[in-house]
Amino acid sequence: MTQHLAAAASPDAAVPDSRWWRDAVIYQVYPRSFADGDGDGMGDLTGIRSRLPYLRDLGVDAVWLSPFYASPQADAGYDVADYRAVDPMFGTLLDADALIREAHALGLRIIVDLVPNHSSDRHDWFQRALAEGPGSPLRERYHFRPGKGAHGELPPNDWESIFGGPAWTRVADGEWYLHLFAPEQPDFNWEHPAVRDEFRSILRFWLDMGVDGFRVDVAHGLVKAAGLPDIGAENQLSLLGNDVMPFFDQDGVHEIYRSWRKVLAEYSPWPSAGGTPSERIMVAEAWTPTVERTANYVRPDEMHQAFNFQYLGTSWDAAELRTVIDASLAAMRPVGAPATWVLSNHDVTRHATRLANPPGLGTQLRTAGDRELGLRRARAATLLMLALPGSAYVYQGEELGLPDVTDLPDEVRQDPSFLRAAQADGASGQDGFRDGCRVPIPWTVEGSSYGFGQGGSWLPQPAEWGGLSVQAQSGDPASTLELYRRALAVRRAQPGLGAGEDVEWLDAPEGVLVFRREGFVCTANVTGSPVTLATPGRLLLASADLTEDGPHTVLPADTTAWWAV
Ligand code: GLC
Repeated sequence: MTQHLAAAASPDAAVPDSRWWRDAVIYQVYPRSFADGDGDGMGDLTGIRSRLPYLRDLGVDAVWLSPFYASPQADAGYDVADYRAVDPMFGTLLDADALIREAHALGLRIIVDLVPNHSSDRHDWFQRALAEGPGSPLRERYHFRPGKGAHGELPPNDWESIFGGPAWTRVADGEWYLHLFAPEQPDFNWEHPAVRDEFRSILRFWLDMGVDGFRVDVAHGLVKAAGLPDIGAENQLSLLGNDVMPFFDQDGVHEIYRSWRKVLAEYSPWPSAGGTPSERIMVAEAWTPTVERTANYVRPDEMHQAFNFQYLGTSWDAAELRTVIDASLAAMRPVGAPATWVLSNHDVTRHATRLANPPGLGTQLRTAGDRELGLRRARAATLLMLALPGSAYVYQGEELGLPDVTDLPDEVRQDPSFLRAAQADGASGQDGFRDGCRVPIPWTVEGSSYGFGQGGSWLPQPAEWGGLSVQAQSGDPASTLELYRRALAVRRAQPGLGAGEDVEWLDAPEGVLVFRREGFVCTANVTGSPVTLATPGRLLLASADLTEDGPHTVLPADTTAWWAV
């Protein structure tokens, strides 16, 4: 009753579905690798359009598209040369328009990637700033500085790029510019009003195109500490680290997101997917030291969600999982944002491979590990994730149980951090193995690139991927694809799954997680041995076959089961 009263007082009371995002399952499409409509070996918007019915049938609520904007592709599209244009390699603005409309007609929402920390060095602003030379006001939109040393031959400070090597590059006239990532990705100066105006305008451009939200790239990086202070050699960071740095998680970023929220509010809740009123949302890619710092990004007047990288980085260990789940829920409670959960994305080794390896190796691996074990745990980890309150992110191909391709030959790798590491003789801020999770998806058992397209694939697919294809798994009740389909269908049908803000932990043997939600119990055996439990209720779904033994159930090693109670 109290809840109903609260709802009646809220501006959204008349439009309950407008808050769709609070428990949404959001599927990440990596456009290069999802489906290739024109047979050039590279995925594109036409390809994605042709597969939208697959995503609707899978049962996700929204699709987040990694960048498809005009870009020289120095960092697979995270180097944007024109924020209002589609790269010809992916299609045209008309294709984007058609994609958004067709997705909406199927009841799917579309979230696009926004890359505000840096542009491409081919962006018109940067090109003009270069051409105009030192002292030009156009240089103030980026971080240009004279160098140190007698002749300015040393970088202005000691910051290192996340992709390895110095975070500064010297241009022909002697000045240096800052790039936290590749040299082809100069950082914007967010103190400059033109930068702020430009991004509000870009938001409006895509909102006018009808998108339902934005995934904000490097949301923790936009504002740099005044004076760009040195950080000291011992503090250089590793990949998107969680360290406190003068270029990460500065308090000044929040004012930017508050101004963006106002722009989104102008468009919310307008009819969107299926014609229902719908809030436009922002999700932060913010790597922060703690979940409490992450919560700052989702205060009521800022973003709606933030990726939970602490959860992604947690080992397959019951105590650690419970701690991070509790901490995540507790951190979100005071700000009223839903928790989010994610296991894989385009920057980390797929979880089927992470969980196949011993813990503690980080999130970018080059070792296949024990595949069978990895898949078994991945299936269990997914059911655990989808039982938690809040919103969940699924990365393309994880529903097929795809492993990372850990043995790609060096010569085909395109990850700029790998190339930088190779140049710098192994000295890279990150490991550079992100290509392994970016290999194009297999759709069919046979055929050129297993149905990805008619013309091969930009990264080679392993020979056995035909057997992991959508076609091979469809209709096979034991397949990972059918497990995802059933899980998402149950999640929709089961009142309370995904909703709410809490889990109620129940007593369980060591290494086992058991929690109750309304009308529902989740049991996850995170150990390598079977455990016997009192049967909690009616079995809804399990990641592996269970043995029911009268009032008891044997939960095999590394298995999650869902129960109606
Ligand atoms: C984000 C993206 C990653 C990209 C980087 C620079 O972390 O997810 O793929 O390389 O930002 O834009």
